Amino acid sequence: MARIIDGKEISAAFKERVKAQVEELKSKGITPGLAVIIVEGDPASRIYVNNKKKACEQLGIYSEEHALPNDVTQEELLALISSLNNRSDINGILCQLPLPPHLDEEKVINSISPNKDVDAFHPMNVGRIMIGNFDFLPCTPAGIMEMLRYCDIDVEGKHCVVIGRSNIVGKPMAMLMLHKNATVTICHSKTRNLKEITRTADILVAAVGKANFVTADMVKPGTVVIDVGMNRLEDGKITGDVDFKAVEPISSAITPVPGGVGPMTIAVLMQNTVTAARRQNGFI
Ligand code: GUN
Repeated sequence: MARIIDGKEISAAFKERVKAQVEELKSKGITPGLAVIIVEGDPASRIYVNNKKKACEQLGIYSEEHALPNDVTQEELLALISSLNNRSDINGILCQLPLPPHLDEEKVINSISPNKDVDAFHPMNVGRIMIGNFDFLPCTPAGIMEMLRYCDIDVEGKHCVVIGRSNIVGKPMAMLMLHKNATVTICHSKTRNLKEITRTADILVAAVGKANFVTADMVKPGTVVIDVGMNRLEDGKITGDVDFKAVEPISSAITPVPGGVGPMTIAVLMQNTVTAARRQNGFI
């Protein structure tokens, strides 16, 4: 029987610490503010954005939503970001991805002030993560590191295998594990002998975006399995990238979906917003 790594419990503890920082800032007359931009059209994005707003409310962070129509132009979106960059009451700016194909995601990310880039997607923040000298934590990977820390799972010297090489999860995940002295392998769609590699993992992170991609024969007994997947099935249910039923009995610890990594991503976003507010007001 594996230990179930409970993202709700761990994120609740993490958010309590963020809330204390919010209260300290408020006692100095500062309310952290987050602007969330959503270009309407993707039902999953709508749910994620609502969850982010809810977390802000819980912690006393001011949030405002900018819901833009699906046919918004690049110029309109960039003008909005520019105005948010210039507002002192907005400390963090997040543009929910993916964007419709007529919008240039890279240009949009690059237009957010690196000081307000609470997703840590801007090339300057990505570069700083690579070096290991960063203010903004990449939300999902940092949430996973916090889960491992909370469960006393040390990555040092371990073989960590990350399946997926996205800029949002796979690449920064590998980097954070490397900073903690893990030996890291990144696998992707062109990897040969995937199963042979994943079977050597002490810690396996699945960030593929395909339901039940990781099957029991890909996992060595005793492995810690982290499931980043959020796949919507035809019946509307959300499931991860890991075949939980088959993999749970052979792993030593595993994250469920939902209730695993997802809540941690939001908790780290809250921390980044508070960090931005503290930094912009000269407290760090
Ligand atoms: N889409 C999926 N995950 C994320 C995220 O962490 N941030 C943003 N902005 N968009 C996303």
